[in-house]
Amino acid sequence: MRPDVFDLTGKTAIITGGASGLGKRMAETLAAAGVSVAIADINEPGAQQIANEITAKGGNALPVEMDVSDPESVMGSVAQVLSAYGTLDIGINAAGVAAGREEDKTPVDIWNHVINIDLNGVYYCCLEYASVMKKQRHGKIINIASMSATVVNNFPQPPVEDSRLLGIPAYCAAKAGVKQLTKVLAAQLSQHGIRVNCISPGYMNTEMTTEIFRMPEVIEQIEKETPLGKVGQPKDLDGLILYLSSGASDFMTGSELMIDGGYSIW
Ligand SMILES: NC(=O)c1ccc[n+]([C@@H]2O[C@H](COP(=O)([O-])OP(=O)(O)OC[C@H]3O[C@@H](n4cnc5c(N)ncnc54)[C@H](O)[C@@H]3O)[C@@H](O)[C@H]2O)c1
Repeated sequence: MRPDVFDLTGKTAIITGGASGLGKRMAETLAAAGVSVAIADINEPGAQQIANEITAKGGNALPVEMDVSDPESVMGSVAQVLSAYGTLDIGINAAGVAAGREEDKTPVDIWNHVINIDLNGVYYCCLEYASVMKKQRHGKIINIASMSATVVNNFPQPPVEDSRLLGIPAYCAAKAGVKQLTKVLAAQLSQHGIRVNCISPGYMNTEMTTEIFRMPEVIEQIEKETPLGKVGQPKDLDGLILYLSSGASDFMTGSELMIDGGYSIW
């Protein structure tokens, strides 16, 4: 019989940002493929809810409270997953923000907030996954970057609210950092059997983009600028996440997979 290169039965995964949007969908997709998933998120009730939903459908899910911007929290959460599942085959970094918080008063506050989560957080998580995966001699790390690692978001008028616009420099810089970090870690970890790749989505319909999606004229412009003529939905990443998590991608490391309806080709 031909081996199923996409078979993920019995594997284990941690998905940061798993309580919402792309991370949530990835957790559901992997759980449906037989993976035991840990939903790691700063939003603990949200993680609990998604874990309950997955469990109700017959999957295996564990909610984990984690703040990716805090190395100690990351360390504790990964240890919690390891003690529950015994292994960590797949580490997905999908936690992210695109704007500052209410309490951020200056562009520098916003910069630090976004960089701490979107870049530093990815690094802290990669370090922890790698320390487990080195001992196992295998593992797949998947970072969620963005097409904003390569192109600058061209927000049409009227502008999205100020805090979000102020977050754009940090967001683009962080995502470019994640793309390059993916390559460096791929080089450093290959000798341990660990693959590190990243996915760069275009505009996707999630909680992160709620404000953008509230403006029909903005969506219209994005659709016009996208060769495939539409924005993405979380389910559009199903194939990529199964591919990068499974043996199907065993000869791939240090790659960026752009999935943006063609937005960045122009
Ligand atoms: N939505 C898009 O258009 C788009 C496009 C390209 C890339 N991305 C990236 O995809 C990833 C997922 O984004 P999304 O659209 O699903 O957003 P989302 O807002 O729906 O989900 C993000 C999740 O991250 C969690 N989170 C935020 N800060 C955290 C922290 N400090 N520690 C742990 N968890 C934290 C949130 O609680 C939330 O559950 C992000 O890295 C984002 O930058 C999104």
